Amino acid sequence: MNKGTLLYSGKAKSVYATDAADQLWIEFRDDTSAFNGQKLEKLARKGEVNNRFNSQIMTWLAEAGIRTHFIRQISPIDALVHKLTMIPVECVVRNCAAGSLVKRLGLEEGLELNPPVFELFLKNDALGDPMINEDHAIRFGWASEDQLHTMKAQSLRVNEILKGRFAAAGMILVDFKLEFGLYQGELLLGDEFSPDGCRVWDAQTRKKLDKDRFRQGLGDVVESYVEIAQRLGITL
Ligand code: ADP
Ligand code: TMP
Repeated sequence: MNKGTLLYSGKAKSVYATDAADQLWIEFRDDTSAFNGQKLEKLARKGEVNNRFNSQIMTWLAEAGIRTHFIRQISPIDALVHKLTMIPVECVVRNCAAGSLVKRLGLEEGLELNPPVFELFLKNDALGDPMINEDHAIRFGWASEDQLHTMKAQSLRVNEILKGRFAAAGMILVDFKLEFGLYQGELLLGDEFSPDGCRVWDAQTRKKLDKDRFRQGLGDVVESYVEIAQRLGITL
């Protein structure tokens, strides 16, 4: 498979065409951003760690019956995926209160949410990815009622599949964000699952091991991503 022209350069990944019209080459870069791109840094090895992490998680999800865009890892920092027409709605699942939920509702960080809370955000950097509801998504044409139903069911299923793996490794999967898209009329899980797009705490100490280390200037960002991977048994 050959890398074609650059189609899109996002905040953390670059997307290239390939020889196949329906497949994309995704490069995981070391660029790290927070606060809607206001804080930017290059963190050595992050692209490789996230690509390997994502490849393993996507493989586990596929084995558990989730339909994903992932085809295979091409190199330490590259992956081959099915080209999706992305749905511009981000799906967030929360097992504990953290981040924007704490700010928005004044909850105590760490409050257990069981059953989990499911939220939708519009993928729109210019608007700062605002929270939306199903009515907004349907009314303004971002997703159909059927698609939203499937996205919620798949997101909660992903949570069920992964939560136990993190717990068995002594960690709490606090929350995560997923993106979906359409491939030949079918809704597939797209984008990535990595410590850039989820929150993970040590179960005993509640030490933050995810991108909050970058957001909050706690240091050892990539080292913590490596720790999550190693504890989950992901080979880096
Ligand atoms: P952002 O666009 O938020 O800055 P990234 O740097 O991660 O994010 O860029 C990757 C882009 O590729 C995202 O916009 C994501 O929606 C998109 N994407 C992910 N998977 C696919 C796919 N299979 N097909 C088409 N686009 C995808
Ligand atoms: P939040 O607390 O900032 O709303 O984020 C919830 C989770 O979703 C957290 O793990 C970060 C992730 N997330 C992204 O990765 N990108 C996004 O654009 C959003 C809204 C959330």
